[in-house]
Amino acid sequence: MLDKIKSLLEEVEKMEAHRADELEALRIKYLGKKGEIAALMNDFRQVPADQKREVGMRLNELKEAAQQKINEIRANLEEGATANDAIDLTRTPYPIELGTRHPLSIVEKEICDIFGRLGFSVAQGPEVEDDWHVFSSLNFAEDHPARDMQDTFFIQHSPDILLRTHTSSVQTRVMERQQPPIRIICPGRVYRNEAISYRAHCFFHQVEGLYVDKNVSFADLKQALLFFAKEMFSADTKIRLRPSYFPFTEPSAEMDISCNICGGKGCPFCKGTGWVEILGCGMVDPAVLENCGIDSNIYSGYALGMGIERITNLKYQVKDLRMFSENDIRFLEEFKSAN
Ligand code: DAH
Repeated sequence: MLDKIKSLLEEVEKMEAHRADELEALRIKYLGKKGEIAALMNDFRQVPADQKREVGMRLNELKEAAQQKINEIRANLEEGATANDAIDLTRTPYPIELGTRHPLSIVEKEICDIFGRLGFSVAQGPEVEDDWHVFSSLNFAEDHPARDMQDTFFIQHSPDILLRTHTSSVQTRVMERQQPPIRIICPGRVYRNEAISYRAHCFFHQVEGLYVDKNVSFADLKQALLFFAKEMFSADTKIRLRPSYFPFTEPSAEMDISCNICGGKGCPFCKGTGWVEILGCGMVDPAVLENCGIDSNIYSGYALGMGIERITNLKYQVKDLRMFSENDIRFLEEFKSAN
C-alpha cells in the first residue's frame, strides 16, 4: 500500500493540464468519489493495525498534495486567460482624441506672426503690475480723467499694485531696459472691473505693438497697419484712421477696417456703416519716451493696441464673448480646422 501511495504521489506531482476540462478530468481521477485516493481510503480498513498510523499519514499527505497541485494548475489557467484577454491584438484601438488650440491662441499667434514678418519680436510682462507701468509712465496723471476710462482691479492692501488694464505696460518695461531700435509685439491677458455680459468680460486679451527708432513717422505706422489688415483679413481689406485720444500717444487714432463680413456694403455687424473699429494707435508721446529714459530729441516711435477677442470675433463671428472662457469642448472643437 505504501508503494502504491508513493507512485500516486509521483504521478500527482507531474500532473499537467492546459484546459479547464483536462484539469477537471484529473481532479475526478484522483480526488473524485470513485477516484484513486478514495479507493485507497477504502482499502485502509484492511491495513494491519501496527501500520495504520504510518499509512494514514502518507495517505493524508497524498490527498493534500493532489488538492494543492490541482489548485495550483487552476490558478495558472485563470491567470493565463486574463493575460490573453488583456492583449487582444484583433481589437479595434480606442481613438486618440486630438486636442485643439484655443481660438484666441490661434489668432494671437497669427497677429504675432504677421508682425514678426515686419521684424517685430514678442515681449511679455507681468499681469500683476504697479501704477507706474500701467498709468503714470504712460502719461495718465494722478487726477487725469483718462484713468477712469479703465476700471481697474486694485490689489487690496496697496493702491499701487493692480491687475494691468492694458498691455501698454509692457512698452514701459521694455523701453526702461533697452535703448532703440525697439520693435516689439506684446500679447497678453488684461483685466478690467466690468460686469460680465455677451460683449464685456472682466478679463480679455490684447496685443500691443511698439516701434521706436530714429525718424519713425506716422506714415510708417500707416504702412504697417495696412500690411497687418491685409494679411489678417484679406488682400482687398481697406483701412481708415480716425482721430482719437490716448494719453500716451500724440497724435492718436483709431483704425477701422472695411467690414469683412459684408465686404463694406453694410450689415448688422458693422451697424450698416461698412466699417468696423479694430485698434487704437498713434505716435508715442515724447513725454512717455522721456519717462523711460529715451531721448525724444533723437528718437520717435509709434504704438498700437488691439483686442484679440475683437479680431477673433471678426474672423470667426463668435457672438458671445463668454464662450471664450467657458471651456465648452463643442465650441473649441469648431476651430479644429484652423489649428
Ligand atoms: N491701451 C489701449 C487700450 O487698452 C490701446 C492702445 C491704444 C494701445 C493706442 C496703444 C495705442 O499702444 O497707441 O485701450
